[in-house]
Amino acid sequence: MKVLYVCAELFPFVKTGGLADVGAGLPPALKALGCDVRLLMPGFAELLAEATSLSNVAQLPGGRVPWGAAPALPAADLALATLPGFELPVYLVLAPDLYQRRGNPYVGPDGQDWSDNALRFSALGWAAAALGQGLDPHWVPDVIHCHDWHAGLAPAYIRAFADAGRDKPLTVFTIHNLAYQGNFPGAEFVQLGLPESYFDMNGLEFFGQISFMKAAIQYADRITTVSPTYAREITMPQQGHGLDGLLRARATSLSGILNGVDYQVWSPATDALLPNRYDTGNLADKALAKRDLQIRFGLAPRAQALVFGVVSRLTEQKGLHLVPQVLTELVRRGGQLALLGQGDGALEQSLVDASIQYPGQVGVRIGYDEASSHTVMAGADVILVPSAFEPCGLTQLYGLRYGTLPLVRRVGGLADTVVDCTLENLDDGSATGFVFDDLTADGLLSAVRRAMVLFRRPDEWAAVQRHAMGLRFDWLAAAQHYLAIYQSLRPGAQLPTRAV
Ligand code: ADP
Ligand code: GLC
Repeated sequence: MKVLYVCAELFPFVKTGGLADVGAGLPPALKALGCDVRLLMPGFAELLAEATSLSNVAQLPGGRVPWGAAPALPAADLALATLPGFELPVYLVLAPDLYQRRGNPYVGPDGQDWSDNALRFSALGWAAAALGQGLDPHWVPDVIHCHDWHAGLAPAYIRAFADAGRDKPLTVFTIHNLAYQGNFPGAEFVQLGLPESYFDMNGLEFFGQISFMKAAIQYADRITTVSPTYAREITMPQQGHGLDGLLRARATSLSGILNGVDYQVWSPATDALLPNRYDTGNLADKALAKRDLQIRFGLAPRAQALVFGVVSRLTEQKGLHLVPQVLTELVRRGGQLALLGQGDGALEQSLVDASIQYPGQVGVRIGYDEASSHTVMAGADVILVPSAFEPCGLTQLYGLRYGTLPLVRRVGGLADTVVDCTLENLDDGSATGFVFDDLTADGLLSAVRRAMVLFRRPDEWAAVQRHAMGLRFDWLAAAQHYLAIYQSLRPGAQLPTRAV
């Protein structure tokens, strides 16, 4: 079965969040199950700079299509690239006018969305559809698996070809975050090269705008998201971001599959970014990682201080506005905070202010830094993820493996992956962290206090750590669920040759 995996991020080359980690983890797992997988990505400068080989495949088609005009793209080629350390071939859309820029995939150096994002990401969807039509005659996908709004137009173009009587590969769309929808002014619709009838409330029109997210939800054969709880939450108004009605209508085609972890990158037993390694067998050595973190983040190197760590984008989603509100109490009770993050300017400032107010107890690094993220993950005692909403969340999964107990809000994938330290759960050995409900300072503080109480009972704390560290959220398990979806869509397709 040939699977084209369409996405905008891939760790370690292009990353703004967990989407990149999924791109690095899921496709190789699908390959291990016998799928023939290739990626398709925009030809971002970072990818071109790293590619060890690049061969031209074809020009992206333009001009006329059965329903009218193709998207109004600048001349663009499709190339097949090899990336160092990544085992799968990656198709790149080579369109320097669209992708060769300073900044990140979505925003310029000024922090503003690129003004031509609709066109930039329509090119990605268009390339996927063209591959589905045989643009590379040596490799024609059976399934096109699209991720987030960036790839959202692919299912729409694919449907348009099918409406015109052409071949139709099967489409699966995975929602990693419904809050980012790729909405653009309706006036830009004409340049996208889609059938006129698609700009309709039963198509991709969303309150007068074009919505890439809605397009994918409307036109993909199957929709998945990254945890079972989030799959339910997005069918309700509170977390539906205006698309809950459509998601309810498509409920029989919607399911939640938990993300996995790449344990080659995230494992304290082998992590080369740490000063020392540890595992369940020598858990006491985690203390060295803690001391290293305290020194690096300007914290007093006290072994008995409970260190709360944060590694996060600083956006409303993550609920971190609550953290400054609980700091006085957290510090008064002898706790410390080590935070690595960047994003919202006001939140950045309030966290920096807190680090000045509580020298030696609150250490804040504003920025994005892979190595420091491992320092925090290994050195902290608790990883804080108090999100307002969380489709899956990866940092709490990393925390589990590092014996850094997650303290999370009971939403989305956090609810599905962390077992609260209630007395019952402690008693039966299932507890892995601390879970709270109310998105308020009091809600967070009550969980912080519970963590502090358990920390004063070192034997019980260590038992929870050991249990957490032994759990596995394997990409192979996730890949098996995706494969079952592909197979349900195309029962006759050649089955993988390796054992499933
Ligand atoms: P999201 O995708 O919503 O940001 P996830 O928990 O799924 O949340 O994934 C976040 C990923 O980004 C993790 O791999 C995390 O380690 C990483 N990350 C977030 N912020 C930073 C940062 N400031 N520096 C380094 N890595 C970060
Ligand atoms: C998104 C979500 C996060 C999820 C990640 C990978 O960025 O915010 O919860 O873990 O995608 O699926």
